[in-house]
Amino acid sequence: MKALVLPGTAQGLEIAARALTEGELVAIPTETVYGLAGNAKDERVLADLFDAKERPRFDPLIFHIAAAPGHGVRALEKFANDGFLDPAVLQKKSWLGDASRALVERFWPGPLTLVLPRGPNALDLATSGLPTVAVRAPAHPLAQALLSQVPFPLCAPSANRFGRISPTSASDVAAELGDRIPFILDGGRCAVGVESTIIAIQPDGGARLLRPGGLPVEAIEATLQTKLTSGKNQEGAAVEAPGNLASHYAPRCKLTLLPGLATDSVSVSILAKVNLPYALLLFASDPMNVTDALRQSQSLRLPVRTLVLTERSNPTEAANRLFSCLRDLDSQEGIEGLYAEPVPSRFQLSGLGYAIQDRLSRAATET
Ligand code: TXA
Ligand code: MG
Repeated sequence: MKALVLPGTAQGLEIAARALTEGELVAIPTETVYGLAGNAKDERVLADLFDAKERPRFDPLIFHIAAAPGHGVRALEKFANDGFLDPAVLQKKSWLGDASRALVERFWPGPLTLVLPRGPNALDLATSGLPTVAVRAPAHPLAQALLSQVPFPLCAPSANRFGRISPTSASDVAAELGDRIPFILDGGRCAVGVESTIIAIQPDGGARLLRPGGLPVEAIEATLQTKLTSGKNQEGAAVEAPGNLASHYAPRCKLTLLPGLATDSVSVSILAKVNLPYALLLFASDPMNVTDALRQSQSLRLPVRTLVLTERSNPTEAANRLFSCLRDLDSQEGIEGLYAEPVPSRFQLSGLGYAIQDRLSRAATET
């Protein structure tokens, strides 16, 4: 099977909607990354979805629903009334109800996923048997158009083989899954470029960050008027989003995170000793400086290819380019190693810097 790439036209949408209704998988654009979508109410479709991605079944899926701008609350209510959420989510004056409403009113459609108590119609395969369900309303207009044309939510994990770099264009999806799925709906390059932020709202008050992502934590905290707790449990161990394994987003080549700015002498001395063809990912520095510094240090080799995430030191741009730059460097012929500059400390734990650092350090963790 070779995936057919559908244009983002009325006709492309119609074919995609029909395929989904007939129980097929369709890769769809969202504002974060491309998702591999299937009917959330059909067990066989969900089984196909796990198989196509080679995803372990303990890793639950995010439900994607329709929500017009400004109508996030209505969308959440419909999802609950359709039996996917515990009705308690709808209760006003409870923390669960009030916090959920405030967030979706402000941020849906957009890169925010909520983990909420589950209702009877959420299939075990979608939730991995957990008592909760993850849901978001993607902002990409084609995703919204498609969701409003089909009478069921879509489960849509990122459209990559399990553990690999997430796709941010139709051609990335084709490279990952093109021989395994029938259709890819082409919606251009993703605007955000990293996955949604995942928050678990606790019925008894409080909200936990399960995955940093495209919506900055600060924006969520400002809306809830409370600090998020981290996803880690008290022992500081397992993160609660089960698929959030330490090693993820893995490139083909081993990725090494440098200790600091690539122009730092420590990082330069590490690079100077590399004796295999390698590629370099810089956050914001001028690549000429690094090259000069390496030349002066009489390095064994200069990088075969160097990419800069954001010449303008703009974390939003860096997030947007992260996965596509990693994919580009990883696919350079003859490369045997990847080296990356970490997010400079001034960005690290704020805005999108947190999400970028999370993805980079997990891409660098060895399995
Ligand atoms: O931006 C995104 O969220 C993208 C696009 C396609 O929408 N989707 C995405 O899906 O990133 P995926 O499957 O690659 O990541 C979903 C994450 C997993 O880490 C999973 O463990 C977590 O969501 N998750 C799903 N249901 C959960 C639940 N009930 N409790 C905790 N975590 C959950
Ligand atoms: Mg993923």
